[in-house]
Amino acid sequence: MTNNLEAQLLALQEEGEKAIAAANTLERLEELRVSYLGKKGQLGALLRSMGQLSAEERPKIGAIANTVKDALQARIDQQHTALEKAQIQAQLEAENLDVTMPGIYRSQGRVHPLNGIIDRAIDIFVGMGYTVANGPEMETDYYNFEALNTPPDHPARDMQDTFYLPDGNLLRTHTSSVQIRYMETEEPPIRVIAPGRVYRRDNVDATHSAVFHQIELLAVDEGLTFTDLKGTVKVFLQEMFGDVEIRFRASYFPFTEPSAEVDLRWNGRWLEVMGCGMVDPNVLKAVGYDPEVYTGFAAGFGVERFAMVLHQIDDIRRVYASDLRFLRQF
Ligand code: DAH
Repeated sequence: MTNNLEAQLLALQEEGEKAIAAANTLERLEELRVSYLGKKGQLGALLRSMGQLSAEERPKIGAIANTVKDALQARIDQQHTALEKAQIQAQLEAENLDVTMPGIYRSQGRVHPLNGIIDRAIDIFVGMGYTVANGPEMETDYYNFEALNTPPDHPARDMQDTFYLPDGNLLRTHTSSVQIRYMETEEPPIRVIAPGRVYRRDNVDATHSAVFHQIELLAVDEGLTFTDLKGTVKVFLQEMFGDVEIRFRASYFPFTEPSAEVDLRWNGRWLEVMGCGMVDPNVLKAVGYDPEVYTGFAAGFGVERFAMVLHQIDDIRRVYASDLRFLRQF
């Protein structure tokens, strides 16, 4: 009886060790553990038959059973470690990243030269306490002309012919219309700039376009004078163009009084870059401000002009052509 059980136990150990060594997955290994050492496993089944043994035989067989159990458990642990290691190794190899492989090139977008000018102007004016305002490109005659002290028979209208819509509205000729819209909804003190697209009935050539961009500037407060206008314009232009010489030349605009044009010294010549002036009292009245209490200054300039001067662009049509060979230079 003893010998028979002992032989069975040793046979079980041998068979188990072989099976464990052959297990090539962790799942298979777990199956084997349950099959040999589990509660209802083969070793347990053999031990249950120990009940038939005599009192002397039992400890001996019990000791053998323990060594069989320990041996199988040790083999399982060993195989478990080996399989786990192999699994990690396989995963590392599968997910291996070759950092020396050439990457996929994705071409980068960049800021269009016109937006670059607008961004810089905004940065400079925001630095002086200004905020940014917008208005519609399709305007009424009132906002584009009338409220800006330019009644229908005013000769200044000739300089700004535009596209008229069937309903009598028009495409704005300048961003000055935003002055009126802004003042209608806000109260002084006002410090605002308005960048945007404007339209003129112009024949297109190297320096003219029927669609272009302007930036409007407006400040309204108690006690603002021409000195404030000059200082603001000078700071802005010198931030934009460097330490250039600047001059104010008397001029005329319906919506400012007095008015001036601003020139800067560029490559040995005077270059006209913007119009400006003190907001005409009639404009303040049009939006319900008391011109006895408030004064203001305004200015307007063309974005394309700035871009062409700063980037030495010879033809305005280049900035609208979407030719990447041109745009990639900026
Ligand atoms: N709106 C003018 C134009 O398009 C530019 C301008 C001149 C705007 C004087 C102003 C200003 O605000 O004060 O030619």
